[in-house]
Amino acid sequence: MRTTRSAPGNRLPGVFGEIDHIGIAVEDLDGAIALYRDQLGMREQHRETVEEQGVHAVLLEIGDAHIELIAPIGPETGVARFIERNGPGMHHVAYRTDDIDDTLRRLVEQGMRMIDREPRVGIRGSRVAFVHPKSTGGVLTEIVQPAEDH
Ligand code: CO
Repeated sequence: MRTTRSAPGNRLPGVFGEIDHIGIAVEDLDGAIALYRDQLGMREQHRETVEEQGVHAVLLEIGDAHIELIAPIGPETGVARFIERNGPGMHHVAYRTDDIDDTLRRLVEQGMRMIDREPRVGIRGSRVAFVHPKSTGGVLTEIVQPAEDH
């Protein structure tokens, strides 16, 4: 990773907007919902199977952000492999942007290694892209541009 200089013209800070969600990998979606919704009282907002990411996903509200519970669709998915290696737990941090193409370009400009060079379809019709954890100190990082109506 290139080091960042605070020279004039450097456009950092401000690559990201705000936290959109924290992704949590779970084996047992119903058990996780029982924890977050029923024990911790977060409102369940949305459920969806996101084929593109190989997950069953549930969004729960926490302030202006969400907890995103993700359970693998099958054993060959990235999230299944993650759980195999690390067990269930925190999986990724997602930052919101209103212009994912610009954010992607700026991340590449900053020398970040991208998993996705082009946005793909995420939950609720959002556009998402992932930054490789090798560029971000081991934290899988997602950028998300919500669909217009969310
Ligand atoms: Co996510």
